[in-house]
Amino acid sequence: MHKVLLLPGDGIGPEVIAEVRKVLAFLVDEHGLALELEEALVGGCAYEDGGDPLPAQTLELARAADAVVLGAVGGPRFDDVERELRPEKGLLRLRAELGLFANLRPAILFADLADASSLKPELVAGLDIMIVRELTGGLYFGEPRGIRTLEGEVRRGVNTLAYDETEIERIAQAAFQIAQRRNRRLCSVDKANVLEVSELWRDVVNRVHQQYPEVSLSHMYVDNAAMQLVRDPKQFDVVLTENMFGDILSDIAAMLTGSIGMLPSASLNGADQGLYEPVHGSAPDIAGKDVANPLAAILSAAMMLRYSLDEPAMAERIEQGVRRVIAEGLRTQDIVYSARQHIGTREMGDAVVRALSD
Ligand code: IPM
Ligand code: MG
Repeated sequence: MHKVLLLPGDGIGPEVIAEVRKVLAFLVDEHGLALELEEALVGGCAYEDGGDPLPAQTLELARAADAVVLGAVGGPRFDDVERELRPEKGLLRLRAELGLFANLRPAILFADLADASSLKPELVAGLDIMIVRELTGGLYFGEPRGIRTLEGEVRRGVNTLAYDETEIERIAQAAFQIAQRRNRRLCSVDKANVLEVSELWRDVVNRVHQQYPEVSLSHMYVDNAAMQLVRDPKQFDVVLTENMFGDILSDIAAMLTGSIGMLPSASLNGADQGLYEPVHGSAPDIAGKDVANPLAAILSAAMMLRYSLDEPAMAERIEQGVRRVIAEGLRTQDIVYSARQHIGTREMGDAVVRALSD
């Protein structure tokens, strides 16, 4: 029996997670998936409920689960909340507490969506990139950090970009292993022309490479990588990078595929426990309107079945179902590129369930 915790969160989170629940319930009822689902609060809703964006009870349930599926956190309502209690802090703490250092962000273009990309269809047709982002170190977590008041009442903000060799080594291992199962090309992205951290990063990645001679390794500066992603994205197979660079590059890669509403992600620790979430955020402007695209969340559940629950056939079933509804021409508003009709969140979830039944 797999234990899965659903964390709907804020904004469109609850709407897309409701569709995930539908899809998983179908697999339980019709295909014998052995799943026990629980649900808890995280982010802004948890803060409003009890003053903490990651309540102790939620963390406890997450630790006990084999996997967590999260919707999204945050929203403008919380802009004035003290930083430590912001919704995003709940998510960052969850990543850190579970030790989820490896963030896998695939950018895959569905064949029928090439026209939804902002790039020319021939540049993106067949695009299939995997960004491996380090998730529990770097600028996001480095110490010292803070805002201090110096002499003369001048304030100074400080964050620290630091990695030790063990942190680089384990994420490099994860990236090489993923590259080995794909097209065996790994591009490590850094800023080694300026940053010492990147010099160490490069050194460790080169060392780990010796264990994976069948993978071809290249290094690229992050500014060039951003440019290459929009110039000729198909040159990439697996991209390995640190936390902050990965945050930025994965949004660029997402947009190449036409919609951030299509992209899932997985965050793993060394024990196959994982947090699965759509790459999109809480999108407060469209929350509660039944227009959000639930496919990124549904595809995140598929990643969960593959990476944490060892149910590759169930994962494939979901992915096939999603491909089928897209091929049938069903679109939520974010992936409509012509005068086509679009459908809502719930209808899209229903369509995936229907596609699973055939
Ligand atoms: C992401 C998001 C988060 C991040 C925020 C919400 C903290 O942008 O998952 O990419 O920066 O990691
Ligand atoms: Mg981001």
